[in-house]
Amino acid sequence: MTNISKKELVVSAIENGTVIDHIPADQVLMVLGILGLNNHKDEILVGMNLSSKKYGKKGIIKVRNKYFEQKDLNKIALVAPYATLIEIKNYEVINKKNVEIPDNIEKILKCINPNCITNKETIDTKFKVIEKESLKIQCHYCEKTMSNIRFAE
Ligand code: CTP
Ligand code: ZN
Repeated sequence: MTNISKKELVVSAIENGTVIDHIPADQVLMVLGILGLNNHKDEILVGMNLSSKKYGKKGIIKVRNKYFEQKDLNKIALVAPYATLIEIKNYEVINKKNVEIPDNIEKILKCINPNCITNKETIDTKFKVIEKESLKIQCHYCEKTMSNIRFAE
């Protein structure tokens, strides 16, 4: 490759796979967790606290040889609303999108209502996003609305 940028020297370019760029510097591990990459068996390149013109400091994740469903990537909108999602094939950028706040969020959050059935039994949580700007969500089971989101352990 010619014209390799300084950034690509920090976290090298990949031949095939997905790049998640512009992650807030302190949310990289959270994003890995949300995407279930904690026990991924193939190569993942991670950069933390890299300098970025747009955001001061940022994180980046490059997952070799893996492409995600947009709806799975959108789950990271909760912690990385300005992330850029990039697909790479043969070293070329073939697709570049922004994260979108999803209409529904399953599993990763916890309902704040202690009496909610999801806090009493082992049931996956399910929330409807009722306000995307301020991120207000409503529990599918108990209908409680909440705007300070809590992640499940
Ligand atoms: N990238 C990569 N491997 C490649 C090509 C690109 O890992 N073969 C990464 C780059 O490091 C960059 C991202 O994919 O983080 C997007 O690539 P590109 O659009 O070329 O970068 P920029 O112009 O810097 O994008 P932006 O302006 O969105 O920061
Ligand atoms: Zn609930």
